[in-house]
Amino acid sequence: MKRILFIKSGLFGDDSVSTQIAQSLVDRLIEKHPGSDVSRIDLDEDDLPHLDAEEFNSWTASADKLDEKQKALAARSDNLIDQLLSHDTLVLAVPMYNLGIPSTLKAWIDRVTRAGKTFRYTSEGPAGLVSGMQAYLVFARGGIYRDTPLDTQTGYLTSVLGLMGIEDVESIYAEGLNMGGDARDQSIAGAMARVEKLFAEYQKELNYAAA
Ligand SMILES: Cc1cc2nc3c(=O)[nH]c(=O)nc-3n(C[C@H](O)[C@H](O)[C@H](O)COP(=O)(O)O)c2cc1C
Repeated sequence: MKRILFIKSGLFGDDSVSTQIAQSLVDRLIEKHPGSDVSRIDLDEDDLPHLDAEEFNSWTASADKLDEKQKALAARSDNLIDQLLSHDTLVLAVPMYNLGIPSTLKAWIDRVTRAGKTFRYTSEGPAGLVSGMQAYLVFARGGIYRDTPLDTQTGYLTSVLGLMGIEDVESIYAEGLNMGGDARDQSIAGAMARVEKLFAEYQKELNYAAA
């Protein structure tokens, strides 16, 4: 049984390709681990604002010095971190917007990547405090950027998850979605096939371990 946190960041609700592929990945996870729980966050609906100084300072000031507004600001990040830590599987649906991740996803990351909570500073650099979490990243892009310097998403997300200690990361790509012709259908089919293959490989490993 898995505890799955499924985070969508697309603007277009259920029409979002990243959300659709990530949903089928979640379906496969549930098939593989019957009884799994799924929590969903729709960042497009949640209206998380950009992080500002008042909110950041509410994390470091002592609790008895905070007014009601600052307490609510601190609780927002605390609650998102508690939610993340109460799951063991993270599925991120990630559209490409202007060569980056959606700003709504960045607003979530800015609240869960917190010194003393999800990572700590050491003399050798930062060390992650999140253990035992598997992450799946499902990317949807109008163009094709994988393995080029313009793919800012993969490096950034794997690095920031790694900073928190989430190092077991699988990435799935649907690219060329806006390039016309058959590219869109082929790309979605390719990404779906990748999801199937991923779980067929897991199943093979399970069968092998059980034999
Ligand atoms: C505001 C905006 C900016 C975009 N910027 C890019 C871009 O820089 N590169 C790209 O390949 N596609 C870009 N696209 C296209 C999206 O990546 C593409 O439509 C993708 O399907 C979005 O993911 P989704 O279907 O999961 O919502 C952009 C789309 C929007 C709405």
